[in-house]
Amino acid sequence: MNAGGEERPPAFQGRRIAPSILSADFSRLGSALDEVLGAGARVIHFDVMDGRFVPPITIGPVVLSSIAEKVHEAGGVVDVHLMIETPELQFGEFAKAGADSITFHAEATDDLEGAISAIHGAGCLAGVSVKPDTPIDAIEAVGGIVDLVLVMSVEPGWAGQAWIEGSDARLGQARELAPGAIIEVDGGIDGDTAPLASAAGADLLVAGSAIFGAPDPAAAYVAIRDAADAV
Ligand code: DX5
Ligand code: ZN
Repeated sequence: MNAGGEERPPAFQGRRIAPSILSADFSRLGSALDEVLGAGARVIHFDVMDGRFVPPITIGPVVLSSIAEKVHEAGGVVDVHLMIETPELQFGEFAKAGADSITFHAEATDDLEGAISAIHGAGCLAGVSVKPDTPIDAIEAVGGIVDLVLVMSVEPGWAGQAWIEGSDARLGQARELAPGAIIEVDGGIDGDTAPLASAAGADLLVAGSAIFGAPDPAAAYVAIRDAADAV
């Protein structure tokens, strides 16, 4: 059940590894998606950066709309992670382009509750993310209405960084503050850190470079999933 009491889409149920396409080769994005969907991935993580909230600029609704159908046809969902300022201005566009969940940063808005309602109004699950230095308490007021809490285990902005030690303790705090929400962790997840995250109660483990930077992304996905499930 989500925080609103409705059944979540099946792809959001149970523990999942969510490949982040940020580390994929965009000249062959369709086949990169086929590889991980074929290996069983059902949550595709989509990183949006605006050059302001974080220095890099990445991808937006145009790319989302070109992949959403493929993901949905496989029974999957697209998990949009907005690392942007004034995220409220963009929820509608991402929902229209095929997002299933939209997560904004607590540091990027003063009105968490309003942002969550706007995402719900657009028909998507709503998530709030916190940077590594932001106390998890930042989400306390919305712990009962948010569908997903995304705990950053690296500084947002770049793939391929090392897992920040102690991030697992923050996952436990997120679970306490938002007991009905999906607890997601993002950054530095690989075969060594996935067990730490799953032992700490993470439901959704994002992995970018450890999957798409591997010679065989499907095999890397399976190895990380098995490492997380072995806990
Ligand atoms: C970073 C992004 C992450 C990134 C993770 O700001 O939010 O989703 O793709 O990449 P890895 O798994 O390589 O740390
Ligand atoms: Zn992300």
